[in-house]
Amino acid sequence: NSPLRLGIAGLGTVGASLGRLIETRAEALANKAGRAIRTTAVCARDRSRDRGFDSSGLAWFDDPVKLAAEADIDVFVELIGGSEGPALDSVKAALNRGLPVVTANKALLAHHGVTLARLAARKKTEILFEAAVAGGIPIVKTMREALVGNDVSRVYGILNGTCNYMLTRMEKEGIAFDACLADAQRLGYAEADPTFDIGGFDAAHKLAILTSLAFGCELDLESVFIEGIETVTNDDIAAAAELGYRIKLLAVAMRTDTGIEQRVHPAMIPADSALARVDGVTNAVAVDSDLLGSILLAGPGAGGEATASAVLSDIMDVAGGTLRPTLGMPAANLAPYKRARMRAHEGGYYIRLS
Ligand code: NDP
Ligand code: HSE
Repeated sequence: NSPLRLGIAGLGTVGASLGRLIETRAEALANKAGRAIRTTAVCARDRSRDRGFDSSGLAWFDDPVKLAAEADIDVFVELIGGSEGPALDSVKAALNRGLPVVTANKALLAHHGVTLARLAARKKTEILFEAAVAGGIPIVKTMREALVGNDVSRVYGILNGTCNYMLTRMEKEGIAFDACLADAQRLGYAEADPTFDIGGFDAAHKLAILTSLAFGCELDLESVFIEGIETVTNDDIAAAAELGYRIKLLAVAMRTDTGIEQRVHPAMIPADSALARVDGVTNAVAVDSDLLGSILLAGPGAGGEATASAVLSDIMDVAGGTLRPTLGMPAANLAPYKRARMRAHEGGYYIRLS
């Protein structure tokens, strides 16, 4: 099988992590996909910066649109960010060529997702976006695949890692708002413009995408009520704690008698509830549906490797085509996996989970 050639536009927190994973896990990925996965073209503003993987033999582009339109690639991976400009133009250029696009860009999808999905359908290709909602948590695939036969009544949770990280540290360590935000930026959790995080807009972008998937309706960012955490103080958090509550930035979409309501705002939630115990950069998404009842998915909501993990899952979907890995078989070539070394059970009845 021919290698799957990736063009990665954006080599920041997520893009550089992805580049490193493609390099360090080359053999395992090829084994699972049934074909090699190779980065062949990249784009960032500063060519001189070390990205932690070998980019010497790759085609370097300064312009993401040129990469998308001209590079010898099979998949275009957009990890630049922003709803307009180079992100939008390059994704359109790739789709117009009929290339599949993988993106983590929720701002782009919240503003232009419907147009882009229609363009992809016209060009008989697809746009994949597992990383765009809740970082590494596989909520997009859960919604599109596992829950597809359900009637969803509500989807809600913590969708911004930066805010949850900040609120947690403000409560547990008494650190001031600005210092917590600076740390979230240093750790690569925050958006290039952190107003999107603390203003609630990033969570709103993700909620609008989730709502569309959950309720099978057209994506509608305009109707989301948005309030951020900018006015939440350490004193507010301490006062809530005294009453038995924790403050979280919640995102909620639910079916009501008069339509689907979408909102993002800080909320006081009982300290002993599952969502209240979600700390740090962790996100959590709860879904209420008719067949399955209530489920809660929690995990890292931001950060390079966690997000790259979700991007990689989309790339592997493209690599495998309509085939999926199954028991004992990689996706595409249907040759058995190498036999794993299984460890014999060594006695003892308890597993300690920390
Ligand atoms: P960064 O700001 O770390 O990286 C952006 C990259 O894009 C950089 O490599 C930058 O180049 C490049 N870039 C920006 N503008 C241009 C341009 N005009 N031409 C060429 N290259 C350009 O962003 P992240 O990696 O954090 O985020 C990428 C995307 O992933 C965003 O859409 C974000 O919302 C999303 N996302 C991020 C998560 C995270 O935890 N960080 C989690 C989930 C999604 P250079 O390096 O040279 O400056
Ligand atoms: N800035 C985002 C967050 C990145 O903190 O959740 C992940 O989407």
